[in-house]
Order: sequence, then C-alpha cells, then structure tokens
Amino acid sequence: MALDSQPAGDARGDSPLSLEEFSSYVEFGDDDRALLRALWPHVEPRRDAIIADFYDRITRHPSTRAIVSDPASIQRLMRTLRVWLEELLLGPWDEAYVQRRRRIGRVHSQVGVDHAAMFMAMSAVQSRLCEIANASSPEPCATVSAVRKVTNLDLGLMTSSYHTLQQERRVRDVQAILVAHLPAIALLIDATGVVQSATPAADWLCCRPIEPGLHFTQLLDPSLVAAAELEHYVTRALSTRNDVHLPRVDTTQSDEPRTLSLTLVPFDSPAPGVLVYIEDHTHAVNAERRFQQQERLAQVGTMSATIAHELRNPLAGISGALQVIAGGLPEGDRRAPILAKVLDQVRGLNRMVTDLLAYSKPHASRVESGIDLVALVNGVASDVVADYPSVQIEVAGEAVVSVDPHMARQVLHNLVMNAAQAAGDGGHVQVTVGPHSVRVCDSGPGLPDAVRPRVFEPFFTTKIKGTGLGLPISQKIARAMGGDLLIIDGGPLAGACFDFLLGR
Ligand code: HEM
Repeated sequence: MALDSQPAGDARGDSPLSLEEFSSYVEFGDDDRALLRALWPHVEPRRDAIIADFYDRITRHPSTRAIVSDPASIQRLMRTLRVWLEELLLGPWDEAYVQRRRRIGRVHSQVGVDHAAMFMAMSAVQSRLCEIANASSPEPCATVSAVRKVTNLDLGLMTSSYHTLQQERRVRDVQAILVAHLPAIALLIDATGVVQSATPAADWLCCRPIEPGLHFTQLLDPSLVAAAELEHYVTRALSTRNDVHLPRVDTTQSDEPRTLSLTLVPFDSPAPGVLVYIEDHTHAVNAERRFQQQERLAQVGTMSATIAHELRNPLAGISGALQVIAGGLPEGDRRAPILAKVLDQVRGLNRMVTDLLAYSKPHASRVESGIDLVALVNGVASDVVADYPSVQIEVAGEAVVSVDPHMARQVLHNLVMNAAQAAGDGGHVQVTVGPHSVRVCDSGPGLPDAVRPRVFEPFFTTKIKGTGLGLPISQKIARAMGGDLLIIDGGPLAGACFDFLLGR
C-alpha cells in the first residue's frame, strides 16, 4: 500500500497519547514490563493460533470482512501482526514503538478500519493473552493487569490520529471537488513550455490528457493558443518576470464561442516557470448580453406600446374611411384594386398594433379547475382547420387540469396555427395532451439552427406577413401562467416541436 509521508501526529496538531502520560496515569511501570516479557515465552508457541483467531474474527464479521478481501494484503497483515504481537510483549516501549503504532493507525485510517473494529479486535487479542496469563503466569492477576495496560496503550496510540486523518481526508475531498468544478484552469509550465501540472480541465480546453514532456501548445486547444497569442505572452512573462493579464480573449472551441481571461504569473522556485490561469467567462458574458438585450427589448416594448396606442384609433379611422370611399366607387373603377391593397396593408398594420399591445400587456392569470384540455385543443384545432383545411390535425392524450382557459387557449391557438402554417398543404400537426404539458409538433421543414435560438425574440420572424410577436407573446403568457414554452428536439414528425408547460 502506498503510504503518504505524513509527519507524526503531534506535529500535525493532534492531541496524541503520550507514552509518559499514559505510563504515569495507569502506572505502567517496570514491573509490568517484566511481567509482559515473562509472558512472551508462553505466548510465542500460540502466536499463529492467536493470529489465525484474529483473522478468523475479521472474516466472520461483515463490518470488517470487506476491508481485508485482497489476498496480498491479508498475507501482509498476518506477517505484520506476528511482529506487532512480539513487540507488544517484549517492547522496548520507547519513542520508536510509539511512532510504529501511530503508523499502523494511519494505515488503518487509510484502509477504512474504524474505532469500533479496532476495539473489537483488540478486545479479542486481550482475552487470548489473559487466558494464557491466567493459565501459565505465577502472578496471573498482575500479568493480566499488565496485558490490559499495554493493549490499551496500543489502542490509544493506534486510534489517536484517526480524527485528524479523517478531517484531513474530508478537506482533501472538498478540495478535489472544488478543483474539479472550478470554472478556471491552472497550468504550471516550465521555462521550456512543458506542462508540469494542471488542474482537471474541461474537454473543450484540452486536446489530450497530460503526459510527461507535453508542451502547452500540444495540450491546449490550438484556437485558444492562437487567439490569446499564448506563446508570445509566455515568453514575455518568462523574460520580464512580470505578470501578464489578458482580460478578454474571445475564441471558438468545438464551434462554441467562448470568452476567457488569462493571467500569466512567472515564478522562480523550485525552477523558473509560469502559472497560466484561465477563467471561463462565457456564461457571465452571455448572461450580461441577454440582460442587455432584455433591457433593450423592455425599452422597445414600452415605446412600441405607446406608439401602438397612438396608432390604434387613427388606423381604425383610416380603415373605416377607406371602406366608405371604396364602397362609393362605381363598379369597374380602376382605383378600386389600389384601395383594396391599401386597405389590406392597413389591416396588416392593425394586426401588428394588436400584437404589440398584447405583448406589452401584463398578463394576470385567472385559474379555473376542471378544464378539459382535449376539448380546449379540439376547439383550437377546428378554428385553425377552418383557415388551413388541407392540414391534418391529430389530437392525442387526455387531461383535466386547473388553468386559465383564456390564456391557455391563446397559447394553443398560436402554437397550432404556427404548426399548420409550417406543415403547409397536405401536412400534419400532432398535438399530445398531458396533465402537465401540451406538445405541438408539425411535419414542416423544422427550425434551422440559426433560427432556433431566436424564435422567442420579439419582432424576429421568418414569415413574410408575420409580426414576429406570436411566439414571444405565447411564451410570455405561458410564463405568466407559471409555466413555459420551449422548443423540443426530435419530435415524432419531421418538423418543429414545442412544449407548452402548464405550470401550477
Ligand atoms: C488489534 C487490532 C489490530 C492490530 C494490532 C493491527 C495491526 C496491523 C499492522 C501492524 C498493520 C501493518 C501496518 C503497516 O503497514 O505499517 C496492519 C495493517 C492492516 N490492517 Fe490491521 N490491525 C488491527 C486491526 C485490524 C482490523 C480490525 C482490520 C480490519 C477490519 C485490519 C485491517 C488491516 C488492513 C487491511 C491493513 C493493511 C494491510 C496491507 O494491505 O498492507 N486491522 N494492521
């Protein structure tokens, strides 16, 4: 077993049992030592039997059996136990003895032998030794007492470092977890650029595992090395002995844009080298970008709502006036088709105004229980089929839920209508109703990768006549209901798929 080279317990701040204190406390004196030495000739012939009994107990009990299942370690344990037993009775009980016992304690702590197992095992050894003392010693009482003292001494010494070792192990475990999950990577490289050591790095950052002699340009992703001009800056840090801080390095790894910062800290001891500290700020930068975008959208939203409000009445007036003028034109008038076109455009503007007002309106949900979702979806489906008669809409599943039926209908109408438009003539739409969500999928061409992340962005549209507000409004309503609206990968039909999560 590999033993870590730890200093003795007292050097690490344990409060270990001291030989002097123990000896004075329990009066473990020369008489006891002499009695133990006198007992050894009676114990030695039974040594193998004692050890066999010791091992037998360990293997018979489930709590200890698992720890010594490896045959090689069993052999080592049996051999070392022979020596231990001899030292127990013959001494000398000096500082070297104390250190050997502490070492055994550390081995036990590493292999997972706990206090309870130690007490049980020592108690069994103690009984065997006392039996022999009672049967063979001319002073059985005093010899049994000496056996008790020395076995207790050993127990105290062996278990004294347990607590600190366990704490150290816990700290190491926590450190390992911290290092493994750090959003930063630290590399130590020597003056020739060879990686000496590194914290575990994300796959996107490292091309291969660290091996001796690996240059940092072979370890790190080439696009990062190039984007950060790392070779240049490592040389500079090494030659000037000054820190180099690269606050923002934009790079693309595995097709994903990343924003990193790099800090290079030169060091001299034990040999010249550079610590390269790489932090990944991609999430923070994206979050900041999203936040700014949302801020901008909120401003645009407020402004649009004000404009929409102002436009609504004049638009209604224009549309009414156009209808009156168109109605007054004689049949076959050449101006009629032009007026019809203008009227159509005014209707488009009206639609936009209505959508804008819907998007900026705060949505308060009024939940009703016992809403039959399938009935709601069927109602929506028949409305949509009226506009898209060649699309087949299939509704499956069942659920009676508590929702705001008006809001749920708005979202479903938008989703099913979008799906029907995407499916096109002769296409299919599949709506699957469940107690927590409704999934709407279509047989259309699907959402291109470039479009997917933007479908909930207001005013983003791929349709010629769309306002780009349908899906954002639906998502806003779904969220106001305590649910959400999500794009789903790999639906049952070839096209796009959305999940309307109902929330509370
Ligand atoms: C009176 C109680 C015990 C004594 C005196 C004792 C003694 C020893 C000694 C002398 C060693 C060798 C340490 C070294 O390498 O320096 C050792 C190791 C070990 N002991 Fe114990 N032990 C006791 C209890 C136990 C118990 C109860 C278990 C199992 C539950 C156990 C399992 C082991 C194991 C697995 C090793 C490591 C073996 C290897 O792989 O080298 N010991 N013990």
